[in-house]
Amino acid sequence: MSSIRDLILEGRKRIVRLPLSDPALESRLLLQKAAGLSDQEVLTSPERPVASGIAGKFFELVEKRRTRVPLAYLLGEKEFWSRSFRVFPGVLIPRPETELVVEKIIGLSTKQEESIVDVGTGCGAIAIALAGELPSARFIAIDVSRRALKAARINAASSPARRIRFVEGRAPAAFKGLLPAESQDFIVSNPPYISERDWRALAPEVRLFEPKRALVSGPTGFEFFNKLIRSSARFLKPQGHLVLEIGHGQREGVLSFFDEAWADVRSFDDLSAIPRVVVARKK
Ligand SMILES: C[S@@+](CC[C@H](N)C(=O)[O-])C[C@H]1O[C@@H](n2cnc3c(N)ncnc32)[C@H](O)[C@@H]1O
Repeated sequence: MSSIRDLILEGRKRIVRLPLSDPALESRLLLQKAAGLSDQEVLTSPERPVASGIAGKFFELVEKRRTRVPLAYLLGEKEFWSRSFRVFPGVLIPRPETELVVEKIIGLSTKQEESIVDVGTGCGAIAIALAGELPSARFIAIDVSRRALKAARINAASSPARRIRFVEGRAPAAFKGLLPAESQDFIVSNPPYISERDWRALAPEVRLFEPKRALVSGPTGFEFFNKLIRSSARFLKPQGHLVLEIGHGQREGVLSFFDEAWADVRSFDDLSAIPRVVVARKK
């Protein structure tokens, strides 16, 4: 029987040629997934033998990783805002830079009763993270994808955040009939913002396995922003905020969509010094 250490080393060897930041870590996490072992069990008992059935399951996962299936889909989860979110194919894997969106809303919130709409909620990352931090707020989380909403509902059920109403719909058209005029304190979105052309150059993990509808907005990458900004002015309360995640190089283009209905339109950089979040206040 092979030991934990042998298997991690062999797994690493099989994926080391892929452009991964840490193949040894990925190998270890896949073994933990196959064996149902914790970090501590693996790190403190590397000589422990592993049953051949489990080793077989581990190598199946390693093979899938070799074909560039994202690690998060193989593990079935991804950490966001210090919480584990279930993800599976068809559901966008939450990214660390999106935590800046959560941070900005927490900073702007009055911490009183507020109404917040998360547009394109995916696995529920933004709404669920915010619900944990803003106990008096009420949320509506919209997504066009049934699979995404399934993941979001599972994630909400296993969190203390029970104040989220999940709605299947295509935004911004779905706002009508769902939101009274001037009713929301925040509209937040990490929308699809990649152009068709940029999408073709993405890493295989993203292009082949993550849902294109979650990533691509159209030929320019700005289509969703344009529609959402125009529509949000109608549904935000006066002094309400629109908070958007944007892509690399999109700052100027996105800012150009804000007209005289808006004030204090600002952008904020992520940890790589890339303008990543735009915040605007409705007058
Ligand atoms: C970039 S993902 C963001 C997911 C999640 N909010 C996050 O930050 O991890 C965009 C999400 O918007 C959804 N979406 C795309 N077009 C939409 C539309 N017109 N209306 C509502 N949701 C949409 C996709 O299904 C996807 O879940």
